[in-house]
Amino acid sequence: MAPLSNLAARDVETLLHPYSNLVRLRETGPLIIERGEGVYVYDTEGKPYIEGMAGLWCTALGYGNEELVEAATAQMRKLSFAHLFSGRSHDPAIELAEKLKEIAPVAISKVFFCGSGSEANDTQIKLVWYFNNALGRPQKKKIVSRVKAYHGVTIAAASLTGLPGNHRDFDLPLPGFLHTGCPHYYRFAENGESEEEFASRLAAELDALIVKGGPDTVAAFIAEPVMGAGGVIVPPKTYFEKIMTVCAKYDVFMISDEVICGFGRLGTAFGCEKLNFAPQSISIAKAMSSAYLPIAGVMIPEAMYQALLTESKKLGVFGHGFTYGGHPVSAAVALKALEIYTRDRIFEKAATRGVQFQARLKALAEHPLVGEARGLGLIGGLELVADKKTKRSFDPQRGVGARCAQFGEAEGLIVRSVLGDVMTLCPPLIISEPEIDDLFDRLKRTLDKTLDWVTREHIADS
Ligand SMILES: Cc1ncc(COP(=O)(O)O)c(C=O)c1O
Repeated sequence: MAPLSNLAARDVETLLHPYSNLVRLRETGPLIIERGEGVYVYDTEGKPYIEGMAGLWCTALGYGNEELVEAATAQMRKLSFAHLFSGRSHDPAIELAEKLKEIAPVAISKVFFCGSGSEANDTQIKLVWYFNNALGRPQKKKIVSRVKAYHGVTIAAASLTGLPGNHRDFDLPLPGFLHTGCPHYYRFAENGESEEEFASRLAAELDALIVKGGPDTVAAFIAEPVMGAGGVIVPPKTYFEKIMTVCAKYDVFMISDEVICGFGRLGTAFGCEKLNFAPQSISIAKAMSSAYLPIAGVMIPEAMYQALLTESKKLGVFGHGFTYGGHPVSAAVALKALEIYTRDRIFEKAATRGVQFQARLKALAEHPLVGEARGLGLIGGLELVADKKTKRSFDPQRGVGARCAQFGEAEGLIVRSVLGDVMTLCPPLIISEPEIDDLFDRLKRTLDKTLDWVTREHIADS
């Protein structure tokens, strides 16, 4: 193992890294990124990488966008901070909320701003609880999400998340958080079951879960249109229409977590439009500002707002809010990002590029290491398996996905490995046709190198 550079050694001694193997990191050190331009980022040696993950599913307009930089600087000069507490406001937040209501896929009454996807989903839960108290049904509080869902890491959001690594030894999930089946056809469909039959079975499972929990105690269901961090899982045909029917049957409030799918990722403004369902409320973050600054939000319907008014009459104050919620500089940047999305027809272009992206992605299904190549629009996942025929996964201890991501780095490509050795891809929406080809050429070489290593070390045997 090469000795760590000075900067890497300082990193290891000072930073606690999220989502990292803390032991391995002490040996390998971090990959330190210094600057970015377009779809490329550059490390401290000046080596370029295609940012195949748009950072963390977020830098939709790529790096070095001067208009966004300009919007931030101008707003910082004019008013660097203002808040929305206690009846105060500022024009970037007002204008941004107006714009969001305009483009929302369902009727939205109000927008509540916060700083991250986790805060947005925590807020969703608190609002649902508050709403049901206002409606005089204090027992209707349980929240249903799905196995392999990702909704964030704060205590309630992590309880929604359906991944073992977010629960184990954190004493989560909290009571009152239920997880229903994951809509992953490749892994969970039964032999001979069609996509539609699989979707019906999942809807029946949700129905049974609600009945078992007691319909008058189940308040809400939350779902990502396409599951991201759980392994890029595109639901089977007819899934959402069947799930929505169950939610409506038991008056279960439906929340779409659009933190990844919102703002063009699937080729439509919101993911629920692509997958054809109409949620009651929506969580947004990431690409709202193209991640130039943190900003997130919750978009709520009129019925919920009316209930909040009722509570305010009773309690005097709506006791929820974050210091940086709707920060004026973040809001100004988000406004500019939304303007660019419309002006440059970024979502339509993402839809067009998505066709090429999916064709190149699905072609990799032929690779000996790939069990399934899946995705929609400009998001994709490759599930690496030890045996294509039986779908047998690799022993997680062998770290095949992590190793594949390292081979990617050597090829100048950033991809991410998530649970189950799924390599995820989510490039900036501005990626060009030749850049998509370049990305997949590098990915193919990355898979070949991974296969050589797997064969050499007999990794598939264990
Ligand atoms: C669908 C989804 N919801 C919520 C979150 C949490 O967002 P944050 O990391 O900003 O708290 C994420 C993060 O990746 C996400 O993908």
